[in-house]
Amino acid sequence: MNETQKFINDNKDRFLNELFELLRIPSVSADPAFNQDVLNTADKVAEFLKEAGADNVEVCETSGYPVVYGEKIIDPSKPTILVYGHYDVQPADPIELWESAPFEPIVKKTEIHPEGAIFARGSADDKGQFFMQVKAFEAMNKTGELPCNIKFMIEGEEEVGSSSLSEFVPANKEKLKNDIIVISDTEIISKDQPSISVGLRGLSYVEVEVHGANMDMHSGVYGGAVPNPLNVLSAMIAKLHDEDGRITIPGFYDDVLELSAEERAEMAKIPFDLEEYKKSVGIADIQGEKGYTTIERTSIRPTLDVNGMWGGYIGAGAKTVIAASAFAKISMRLVPNQDPDKITKLFTDYFPTLAPSSVRVVVKPHHGGHSYLLPTDDKGYLAAKKAMTQTFGKEALPTRSGGSIPIVALFEKELGSKSVLMGFGLNSDVIHSPNENYGLFNFYKGIETIPYFFKYYTEG
Ligand code: BES
Ligand code: MN
Ligand code: MN
Repeated sequence: MNETQKFINDNKDRFLNELFELLRIPSVSADPAFNQDVLNTADKVAEFLKEAGADNVEVCETSGYPVVYGEKIIDPSKPTILVYGHYDVQPADPIELWESAPFEPIVKKTEIHPEGAIFARGSADDKGQFFMQVKAFEAMNKTGELPCNIKFMIEGEEEVGSSSLSEFVPANKEKLKNDIIVISDTEIISKDQPSISVGLRGLSYVEVEVHGANMDMHSGVYGGAVPNPLNVLSAMIAKLHDEDGRITIPGFYDDVLELSAEERAEMAKIPFDLEEYKKSVGIADIQGEKGYTTIERTSIRPTLDVNGMWGGYIGAGAKTVIAASAFAKISMRLVPNQDPDKITKLFTDYFPTLAPSSVRVVVKPHHGGHSYLLPTDDKGYLAAKKAMTQTFGKEALPTRSGGSIPIVALFEKELGSKSVLMGFGLNSDVIHSPNENYGLFNFYKGIETIPYFFKYYTEG
């Protein structure tokens, strides 16, 4: 792998400049106003794959945004690694909170990254991360050190639930056939403590509506007698947790996979500084389910959160009014064994029972996703551990991520392949938030490490 590492070293600046080109295109999949930009990003990704040396590069149409495919088959008797990533990004809003423009990437020094971090929407989630895979491939390929076959599948709808992939993956089983999938779209513990995600949470997402009077009413004339949907909705939402921070939906915890005492003891070894954590997000105290640590609450335990809530008058000044309707978007993060459809049904059956008879309640299910677990004796895990342990000079630990990548469970179901979540982000990258950033250290460490994963997986 020496030539590969030398190639990487000699091309560091070019790799960064190329990533900047990708980051400059605002590929926001959630907002139709960026439709053309998302499509242009797919073309740009295809161009980079070709330049890196991939064959049969294709921008594959789906019922939504295209999937970019490319491959290098060096020897059919060798293993095939499928690289998955996403070129779409989250909306940049609230834009006024960005210290530099979200789609004009720049490198700035920070406390965590004295050598610099790339500030841009998508720098860590996921353009900067999947691009490490593209550049690691380029380095292995151009030096003749690619040890096995490689396929790329970079999609454009991850941030909106990957719904077209439920058709695309089953329809392209042969094309996507692989021995293992590798994904760089998760985080490590810190710059000096490497880790590999062995779990992802699932998701159930619903929108709820509470309807009262047939129009907004004067709150003096009618207030006190006519139901106030905003008051009612708040009270209903408040009932979804008990005093111990547990979710009250009957049957919600029935299928939850509990960890053994040994597994929890293992998890407790992960370095964590509560004061630093509180400071980093600007809160006076933490909260959550009784009996669990912060790391457990954000990874192995299911949660329920209101993501947005609206209704009535929210303009300038005060308007005295009782809204006709109130709305909320609610997400439930799920853990292994919980079925998203079952949980959505439990919610849909239970939530309306919390309402008084004076209002009408509607529950609308959105996308969902299954959780994921990778056993730590999996060949892919062991190769990733060996690679990371080598380049960081410290043993890589297994962690469970709190986020969701629904396609991972779909891959397992449709292709029968496991995914190794070899991401290099940090929680401080603040993905989805203003000032998202990705450390230069992380970007280059990823490019350096990935070729060793390919080598150890092929040898192992
Ligand atoms: N890369 C994230 C998921 C992630 C973040 C995993 C941090 C592990 C650690 C991904 O792009 C994402 O944001 N996923 C969504 C999924 C949803 C849109 C179905 C999520 O987790 O909210
Ligand atoms: Mn992502
Ligand atoms: Mn994301």
